[in-house]
Amino acid sequence: MEILRTVDSVRQWVRAQREAGRAVHFVPTMGYFHEGHLSLMRRAQHDNGAVIVSIFVNPLQFGAGEDYNRYPRDFERDRQMAQSVGVEAIFYPDVAEMYPAGYQTEVRVKELSKPLCGRSRPGHFEGVATVVLKLFNIVTPDRAYFGMKDYQQLRVIQQLVRDMNLPIEIVPCPIVREPDGLAMSSRNVYLTPEERTAATVLYRSLQWAQAQVESGERDASQLREGVFQRIAAEPLARIDYVEVVDAETLQPVERIDRPTLIALAVFFGKARLIDNCIVAPAAGY
Ligand code: PAF
Repeated sequence: MEILRTVDSVRQWVRAQREAGRAVHFVPTMGYFHEGHLSLMRRAQHDNGAVIVSIFVNPLQFGAGEDYNRYPRDFERDRQMAQSVGVEAIFYPDVAEMYPAGYQTEVRVKELSKPLCGRSRPGHFEGVATVVLKLFNIVTPDRAYFGMKDYQQLRVIQQLVRDMNLPIEIVPCPIVREPDGLAMSSRNVYLTPEERTAATVLYRSLQWAQAQVESGERDASQLREGVFQRIAAEPLARIDYVEVVDAETLQPVERIDRPTLIALAVFFGKARLIDNCIVAPAAGY
């Protein structure tokens, strides 16, 4: 497996793959891998391409007072995990390679960046859109793989690709969960054992909402309130938001009459966790 530290070395590697007639499949990450990341890499491999992963903790997408400095990092562990699932190259740039002195440009996907996490993390999705566009321009992948846990990020990137006419297929991949339902996240390492147990309330609340929709509930405010109250009853949870929105536009809905996202962000101690599910009225309802 190749470790590529510069933009030029990535371009060379990509050229060699294309000359060999191979498609390039790309998994952008911030490292500190877990099963969720590995599921994206396996999927990228399964789709028959040369798989390249990037590891870059992008300072632009962290706000003041957020966890940029303490974000978990372990390159050697990541390298071994990536190798074990057949990744062929890792792009591992430093900050100066991505944002050299004099760097100025930022990209904004206007409407999709505003609600949900965009409200509590101003500038976050501009940071994400900017680095992802740069990575796409460097790697020029045929396909890129993103987890649905970061559902708003996925929608922002889908819109970016469409608006900028990028010839890249975005492949959304399902959320990977621990056996007790907690969505896998690099930030789960911040949880104390008590917070880790308490955090299972998130998935239980989403499952409750899903069951409500399956038994005919269509009122979005009832669902939001039910999820909110279940989480609020957990003393270690501090809710940032619980929202019920259109799965495409991310705008609030009143009734569940189309694919709808139930999304939440909740603090447990130092960890801000996000999770979501998509609900939709069953055909025939
Ligand atoms: O989801 C992530 O790990 C990051 O937001 C991404 C897409 C790699 C951009 O820094």
